[in-house]
Amino acid sequence: MIKNTIKTAEYEVFEKMVDHHDQILDALSNRVDNLNGCEDLESAGSSIAVLIDYITGEVLPHAKAEEETIYKSVLSDPRFDVLIKEMIQEHERVTEIYKNIATSRDFLHVKSLATDLSTLMKVHVGKENEEVLSYLLESNDFNLVEIFSTMVKRYTELKDGLNDDLKSVESTTVDSLFELVLESVKALENSGETDAAARMLAKLGAVLSERSDLVARANLELHRMVLKATRSGVSLKSKSDVKHQEKVGEGHANVFDLDVREMKPAKRHKTIFETFQNLEAGKGFMLINDHDPLPLKYQFEAEYANQFAWSYKESGPRVWKVEIVRVA
Ligand SMILES: [Fe+2]
Ligand SMILES: [Fe+2]
Repeated sequence: MIKNTIKTAEYEVFEKMVDHHDQILDALSNRVDNLNGCEDLESAGSSIAVLIDYITGEVLPHAKAEEETIYKSVLSDPRFDVLIKEMIQEHERVTEIYKNIATSRDFLHVKSLATDLSTLMKVHVGKENEEVLSYLLESNDFNLVEIFSTMVKRYTELKDGLNDDLKSVESTTVDSLFELVLESVKALENSGETDAAARMLAKLGAVLSERSDLVARANLELHRMVLKATRSGVSLKSKSDVKHQEKVGEGHANVFDLDVREMKPAKRHKTIFETFQNLEAGKGFMLINDHDPLPLKYQFEAEYANQFAWSYKESGPRVWKVEIVRVA
């Protein structure tokens, strides 16, 4: 009775695996049909991308997971040596085909590769169902339910790893774009457009808020730029006070002191922004700093355009005081 229950559970898993194989074959042949219906390499671009995405995102993690679980189990029976070797080679052939599809510039070749892939997979999956999975189901030495659950776990891990790889590709792209923007910003500065360059840097920092390393670099660059401009007497538009509402002025706002002189530079920025975020409209604070907080003003303009009023109350040479009021 117990044995029968186990067998029933194993049989259900067996059917699930066969169904899943059918889904893979369907998905592949749909994608190959779409590709074959295209006229040339240019118009087939997205069909090729969709096919490759499916192979790398689904087929290959599945293949790898089954090698490590199902194939490994049957290999305990030496009669499977040749068959499994052949099937692993077929998995490798899938990788080879998709790479050729991705790099070929000859559309006829791409189409024939895609068709080969479809045929190869049909034969391969047929063997997997009829020879490998059936054997595991019938044999009393294995529990297909357990093998399947290990396989699913492994498959999920492999897919997650794939996402990590993609993330690192994304972050490399962000790094390259950052360097590119920085270069453009410096070119802008060198051609006398310091104000526009500083605004761009402040926006860059705001956009990249998830990447604290790049935010810190943008911030440093912004400070350098503003300091250089101030020293060489370049007039910066942001230097003028921002008063968005006439009624907000000295004496009307509820202002407290925020002295950041003793704080580490990295912490200053965070503290100031947090303080501002917590303000109600009409309230403000007196920022007390040991250098002209002009870079900060660019950052306020990038993050809180039209929401703040900024007025210098003291401008050096040792202490700077700026009243920052939330107006909206
Ligand atoms: Fe396979
Ligand atoms: Fe499979």
